[in-house]
Amino acid sequence: MQTEIVKNMENKRVILVTGGCGFIGANFVHLLQRYRPTWRVVNLDALTYAGNLRNLQAISEGERYRFVHGDICDQPLVNALLAEEGVDTVVHFAAESHVDKSITGPGEFIRTNVTGTFTLLEAARRHWLGGEWPGRKPCFLHVSTDEVYGSLGPSGLFTETTPYDPRSPYSASKASSDHLARAYFHTYGLPVRITNCSNNYGPYQFPEKLIPLVLNNALHGRPLPVYGDGRNVRDWLYVQDHCEAIVEVLEKGRDGESYNIGGNNEKENIEVVTLLCDLLDEKVGLAPSGRPRRSLITFVRDRLGHDRRYAIDAGKIRAELGWEPKMDFARGMELTIDWYLANPEWVAEIVNGAYRDYYEAMYSH
Ligand code: NAD
Ligand code: DAU
Repeated sequence: MQTEIVKNMENKRVILVTGGCGFIGANFVHLLQRYRPTWRVVNLDALTYAGNLRNLQAISEGERYRFVHGDICDQPLVNALLAEEGVDTVVHFAAESHVDKSITGPGEFIRTNVTGTFTLLEAARRHWLGGEWPGRKPCFLHVSTDEVYGSLGPSGLFTETTPYDPRSPYSASKASSDHLARAYFHTYGLPVRITNCSNNYGPYQFPEKLIPLVLNNALHGRPLPVYGDGRNVRDWLYVQDHCEAIVEVLEKGRDGESYNIGGNNEKENIEVVTLLCDLLDEKVGLAPSGRPRRSLITFVRDRLGHDRRYAIDAGKIRAELGWEPKMDFARGMELTIDWYLANPEWVAEIVNGAYRDYYEAMYSH
């Protein structure tokens, strides 16, 4: 896959990445810098609490990259950006992404995930349809989640034809945005593709999500909150594998299609947490108390409506596009831990709020 990625350098695209300062978006922008040096990336991000300019501080503004601080719900801004940049590709990551936050405050999820997606689809419709695109083929790739399919029992896998059955305000907002995206394909012929991916992990993940939260607490000898009985199952995918899958869907996928993306890597939450504890003990020694980090595990009240199990059948993307996850879970966890250990200031600046000052520092002159 990586060789193919490098081979295909002649392609040119002007690509609007939304939410490029978040976890997956930032990894995607870094990946394009390496593998698609002829593409121009315009990163539109509102810098909510989850957006961090530090994630992209190594990338300079210029012919290949532009950052725009703005909201995907701002129709005039989005219309103008597509026109002035001649955008031919949208990769839409921007979202409110944390399930727990959607339970305590669903409103922002409806605004960003539903209205924001609608705003982008409208802009793409106005900008692309009826226009001439010699040598280029517009594409709107909507990045979504496996959570739209609901919750599985002990067996079975989500396929692209599994009926939607979202259970949290987050997944319901993502399901709504998927339906809108599909409706724009069927109604207007907008060239839309959708990806539904399982749980990502890796560098730059905001420390509200299970793996970076547990990692950070474990490092400092703090309790590790495990919801319910800890036996809920998630399928884990290393973030770079996800980003490579997105490039494959952009370049080889078909309009109007959905592609499930997964890691073939189902784990109970308690397995993930104990593996993290053991790897950290090996790498940095026991917890400050002198005990193994497993002793920090604390079972807490369950998440409301907690989906029991997610699992992906990624047979379609494998058969049609030749994509498969490459990263082994234990190796991916080691790489992730090594990244967080090598970048302690990254989490520290989130905890003390200093990451919010990067915009002023980088763009105020
Ligand atoms: P994230 O929360 O880390 O980042 C979201 C980014 O979107 C941030 O940079 C934020 O500033 C930006 N943003 C939020 N609201 C915005 C708005 N109104 N206008 C412009 N920018 C805005 O999210 P993530 O984990 O990187 O997820 C990215 C996408 O992938 C989401 O659509 C999510 O639903 C989907 N997804 C995530 C996972 C996962 O495991 N994290 C798995 C499958 C799918
Ligand atoms: O499946 C894809 C989804 O994965 C994405 O669409 C979401 O954007 C992403 O946040 C993720 O959702 P989850 O709810 O699965 O991820 P989270 O890291 O919040 O939780 C993973 C599991 O761990 C879940 O079963 C809840 C549990 N958990 C989570 C936290 C934060 C705990 O037990 N303790 C915790 O402190």
